[in-house]
Amino acid sequence: MAAFRLCVLLVWATITAATAQSRTTPEKPSDTLDKEFHRQRREQLRKQLPARSVAVFFTAPVRNRANDVDFYYHPDPDFYYLTGYTEPNAVLLVFAEPQTVNGKKVTDLLFVQPNNAQEELWNGKRLGVDGAATTLGIATQPNTSFQNYKLDESLQVFIKPLPTDVRDNERDEADLYSLVEQFTGKAKSANLTGLEQVMAQLREQKTEEELRLLRKAITISAQAQIEVMKAMKPGMSEMEVQGIHEFVYKKYGAQHVGYPSIVGAGNNGCVLHYIESGKPSITNNELVLMDVGAEVKGYTADVTRTIPANGKFSPEQKAIYELVLKAQDAAIEQCKVGNQFFAPGQVAQDVIADGLVKLGVIKNKSEARRYFPHGTSHYLGLDVHDAGSYGPFKPNTVITVEPGIYIPDGSPCDKKWWGIGVRIEDDILITEKGWENLSKLAPRTVADIEKTMVQPSALDDFTLPEIK
Ligand code: GLY
Ligand code: MN
Ligand code: MN
Repeated sequence: MAAFRLCVLLVWATITAATAQSRTTPEKPSDTLDKEFHRQRREQLRKQLPARSVAVFFTAPVRNRANDVDFYYHPDPDFYYLTGYTEPNAVLLVFAEPQTVNGKKVTDLLFVQPNNAQEELWNGKRLGVDGAATTLGIATQPNTSFQNYKLDESLQVFIKPLPTDVRDNERDEADLYSLVEQFTGKAKSANLTGLEQVMAQLREQKTEEELRLLRKAITISAQAQIEVMKAMKPGMSEMEVQGIHEFVYKKYGAQHVGYPSIVGAGNNGCVLHYIESGKPSITNNELVLMDVGAEVKGYTADVTRTIPANGKFSPEQKAIYELVLKAQDAAIEQCKVGNQFFAPGQVAQDVIADGLVKLGVIKNKSEARRYFPHGTSHYLGLDVHDAGSYGPFKPNTVITVEPGIYIPDGSPCDKKWWGIGVRIEDDILITEKGWENLSKLAPRTVADIEKTMVQPSALDDFTLPEIK
């Protein structure tokens, strides 16, 4: 009996706790990192601010797509990093020392969109002023009060270059256009140097929370590469291949793509950032280059695989592919704390130049840039080309290693190489212990790709009835 009572009590306590929790959970699903993460990021920034100063950040502008439709809103990465706020029309002040605002001492102050029933009917819930304070753990004010906010004139103001592509929404007195205008009237002089670099250095080294999100985005992207390898067959369109990648992202909870997907077959694979996906039917002998990345809570993957449409590399495709792979392997070995940022790229260029001479594609190593015309690495994080110092590697940074060879039709070499475009891109975590390939789940070698491509796919059964 006592055990039964205890059990009932436990159930009751659980229900009560769950109800209390659901009461305090904001209606808008939280798409933030933990508020403690953002607080710590502001503390790191504060440490770099000189005494008696303030750093001012504006959110990104809303960008118009056509007529009264805007592009999906993407917050400014620095703003998101420091606050977790994902709505537009906001300003953040990070003070070097606490300031008194409405009788309270605050170290940071966030001006946000207030609740507005009409706007929320059309565009969805806003956190609102109190909701933002609770959810994000930061002092907030409505953005409509920014125009009357008195910025202490004795404070030195740091700011990044202000966005220039901001449209005035005349119906909103606190849209970004107005906030920027109100700010320029408020700050007598603002220091435009330094803040961008400070933010870049903070964002370069990832925390555990950030790495968790990056690992998720990268794993989903790698799984999508596997699903496409299984589903790929000649006759598919580039758009269909893109659709499979992006379906897998959504299936596993990635909210967006981190950048427009690049899916190019044959000669289209030789266009570095080909985003049309315009080829209706991929042919039997073509390679398909797929440079795609899922975004999870703002953090993006960037993974490229190049596969033969028919499941089997031709001898020429294999020769070029294995040269790129060799260059990538050599470059990844350079991913060590203390090495210069450009060390992997230099090694990759050297391997590719040597290999292209040996294959007879070029006569001199100096001609190699024609076929490998881009850099090998960039930081990865909230931006696909993420902020960072581009100095020696520091621990807990994530970079891409992505050599490639592109030989478009008409190139000055034997025709047998024409239309071959290969890029292999992996996302590499650099720590004190060495490097880790976060995207290794996606098959990379010729043998592993060919083995994956013979596997059945759930998409094999898709049919569309005849359209009359
Ligand atoms: N996805 C663009 C790049 O690899 O840099
Ligand atoms: Mn890429
Ligand atoms: Mn990249």
